[in-house]
Amino acid sequence: MQTTTRIGVLTVSDRASRGEYEDLGGPAISQYLQKTLVSEWVQEYLVVSDDREVIASSLRKMADVSHCCLIITTGGTGPALRDVTPEATADVCEKMMPGFGELMRKVSLEKVPTAILSRQTAGIRGPCLIVNLPGQPKAIRECLDAVMPAIPYCIDLIGGPRLETAPEHIVAFRPKSK
Ligand code: MTE
Repeated sequence: MQTTTRIGVLTVSDRASRGEYEDLGGPAISQYLQKTLVSEWVQEYLVVSDDREVIASSLRKMADVSHCCLIITTGGTGPALRDVTPEATADVCEKMMPGFGELMRKVSLEKVPTAILSRQTAGIRGPCLIVNLPGQPKAIRECLDAVMPAIPYCIDLIGGPRLETAPEHIVAFRPKSK
């Protein structure tokens, strides 16, 4: 049976959640995915405050109820008191995937010295991969360009749907591709 591929986009920002400013990060992630993925998918989009339990429950809902195979968060990865997205991600994941954060910080450091301030990480909850991005909209492309080649194979390995990318944008690397 063919099931719908769902991808969650979760913006974490006190101010955007109160409507004090327009969320730019969530739409930037959506646009990136629309351009990059050629297989069919639908989006689940939420804007939440920088509250650890609210973030964790939103991630659980997207993974367990909406059955997202991938959730991309933006914001709340820095050192400020209210920045708790990585903690909330770890709260809901069975397995952490530290290579994502390592690679994203490496490529980001080539652009901005404050890249070391992001504690962004990734992890697995069941058949769902959760990836944190910083809140800066320009960080989205920089970070996703770096990790996107490995995301389809990661989702294959955890039992999710097969994601196909537009090769002119991102070539998905599948070591054992058939
Ligand atoms: N990474 C990239 N690629 N581009 C950026 O502009 N900003 C940095 C860092 N990583 C940035 C980046 C800054 S200034 C901060 S404070 C941290 O991400 C955390 O951002 P966040 O709290 O909005 O998630």
